[in-house]
Amino acid sequence: MMEEVNEFDFENRILSNEYNSAQDSEVENCLRPKNLEEYIGQEKAKSNLKVYIESAKLRGEALDHVLLYGPPGLGKTTLSSIIANEMGVNIRTTSGPAIEKQGDLAAILTNLNEGDVLFIDEIHRLSRAVEEILYPAMEDYSLDIIIGKGPSARSIRLPIPKFTLIGATTRAGQLTTPLRDRFGVLLKLELYTPEELAKIVMRSAGILDINITEEGAHSIASRSRGTPRIANRLLKRIRDFALVKGDGTITSEIAKYALEALEIDELGLDNIDRKMLESIIKYYSGGPVGLETLAATIGEESITIEDVYEPYLMQIGFLARTPRGRCATRLAYDHLGYPFSPNNSAPQQISGQRNFEID
Ligand code: ADE
Repeated sequence: MMEEVNEFDFENRILSNEYNSAQDSEVENCLRPKNLEEYIGQEKAKSNLKVYIESAKLRGEALDHVLLYGPPGLGKTTLSSIIANEMGVNIRTTSGPAIEKQGDLAAILTNLNEGDVLFIDEIHRLSRAVEEILYPAMEDYSLDIIIGKGPSARSIRLPIPKFTLIGATTRAGQLTTPLRDRFGVLLKLELYTPEELAKIVMRSAGILDINITEEGAHSIASRSRGTPRIANRLLKRIRDFALVKGDGTITSEIAKYALEALEIDELGLDNIDRKMLESIIKYYSGGPVGLETLAATIGEESITIEDVYEPYLMQIGFLARTPRGRCATRLAYDHLGYPFSPNNSAPQQISGQRNFEID
């Protein structure tokens, strides 16, 4: 029923990619790997990064500016701290929406030390005016300051320390071209494989002193939508079930029992994913349906659908994006137990990849 969709508690969605409580992010902090050696997965990004870091150290220079992009929850913040750690420099963390005025950014930049990392999360949300301060800062390590007004106004150039900007975004395509072009290193983070997630779960269980079997870790991994943040959150919730309903050890049986209680199915889909796919199937004959229409139907913001729900549904081949809108694929019909209608215009195969490409 459509009405039920809005009754779902979106804020507390256990599969959410967002931090949802202070306590959560505190625990997340202790689970964050501190160096590249400890960091599991993202092999491509990691091996290239190692080269760039080593080269910068050999040259005795600041690392080139780095843009990290990809779906939420994959470790962009973690990776930026690791980069600073490996370079042996300090990191200053902020976010696009937090920098309101040009002066805010100028103050941050002038307070950096030589070689420091400035991490700007959600960098696609910087205002144009603030972005313009960044251009000379990134390119020439200088700030252009206008002094005075009217005919007597003049511009002076202030040198700032040579720093490394690390920008993170879920949507590289939304960055302006001049900003994007000033990053020397572009790193795309991919959804993790179940094997990588199982390793992360075992590592986190060790840190949190949770007893877990290999099979238990694999049960969690396969339902974590390719996202370590979700895997770690599920680990903590399932630990509760193991303590109360079992003997304290997370076995595959306890994991399955808990995941059923949390209404997370064997592919990691929760109520919202299922409602979204069911809406497309039931109300729009499988699609195509426009993003805005779909968002209104399930009572979600279109940006959340694009950033949070769609990447995984597309990765497992349940959802296709076409120029005319979203379509549920045959795999989605099968999974949800609906008969697939061959007259349906929905494509039957996975269409392309996700939308985190640069273009
Ligand atoms: N915890 C969260 N993400 C991780 C990763 N990529 N490697 C190790 N532990 C993690």
